[in-house]
Amino acid sequence: EEDATTGIRGEIVVVNGEKFHKLPLSISTEEHLNNLKNMRMRHDDIIIAAFPKSGTHWLWEVVHMLTSGKVEYESRAKEHLMLEFNEVEHFDVMPSPRIINTHFLLRYLSQETDSKKARVLHVLRNPKDIAVSFYYHLQRSRGIKSMTFSEFAQQFMQGGSLPGNFLDYFAYLPEMEKWQKEHPDVPFMNIYFEDMKKHPAEEIKRTAKFLGLEPSDSLCADIAEACSFNKLKTADESKHNPVKHLFKDSKPEFYRKGEIGDWKNHFTVALSEHFDAVIADKLKGCVCASKFTY
Ligand code: A3P
Repeated sequence: EEDATTGIRGEIVVVNGEKFHKLPLSISTEEHLNNLKNMRMRHDDIIIAAFPKSGTHWLWEVVHMLTSGKVEYESRAKEHLMLEFNEVEHFDVMPSPRIINTHFLLRYLSQETDSKKARVLHVLRNPKDIAVSFYYHLQRSRGIKSMTFSEFAQQFMQGGSLPGNFLDYFAYLPEMEKWQKEHPDVPFMNIYFEDMKKHPAEEIKRTAKFLGLEPSDSLCADIAEACSFNKLKTADESKHNPVKHLFKDSKPEFYRKGEIGDWKNHFTVALSEHFDAVIADKLKGCVCASKFTY
């Protein structure tokens, strides 16, 4: 079945009564999601959860360096540790601490997450910058309809431009806050792309504290430098990425520009006002809404 807005031709699966557009290569079967629910968790697990294009690759690499205590890039691509691309058995045999990441909503996490007190890091970013980043990401994908940014933005606001209902950003954020309230025993920390960009070493230190680590200031500064945009972009190019071939010329562009406010180069004033109104309405009562006022 073809998604009317993206032109992505993909299988649609119904999981526990919800309709999913299966992402290419992802295992969004009912069986997989049920297996995830029963996945064995460990007390030192770290889960990085984010809507796509929020800065997941970046934080994942930072957390890897923090836990290893070394300024060395993880040799594997992030996709090798994503819940949506790997069977549960793959995670069962991984050494601790596991730095798992996902774009799935947290309701799909293992029911042991609470009792094991796995730590959850949730990355957030200005939705307008996410929309721009996602636009280029999708335009680079094979088999995608070519469209203008403003066409894409209209669809993004309706939650229809993205494959998979879990990829509706404006449903994603309220649900993340709700999940957090319903799971008070799970250590949870929000981390904003914009804060990472403005003062990386401080945010890295704050993340370390949340993880129960005490790195020196100089290690935090070194990690910030090693994980700056250009350095990570170069490091990432040499990695084997299992999803590379899904993109035109096998070039995904996970690291495109890495800026705050690139939306200003893409939104007209009218589109921006419309987008702000949609965000304000959908994020009513959400703590994160006040952060997105730039
Ligand atoms: P842009 O498309 O705006 O450049 P994710 O990893 O969740 O898919 O997010 C990708 C976005 O994070 C991309 O945004 C990418 O450039 C940006 N990014 C990755 N590493 C970064 C870094 N070290 N500094 C700034 N932005 C970074």
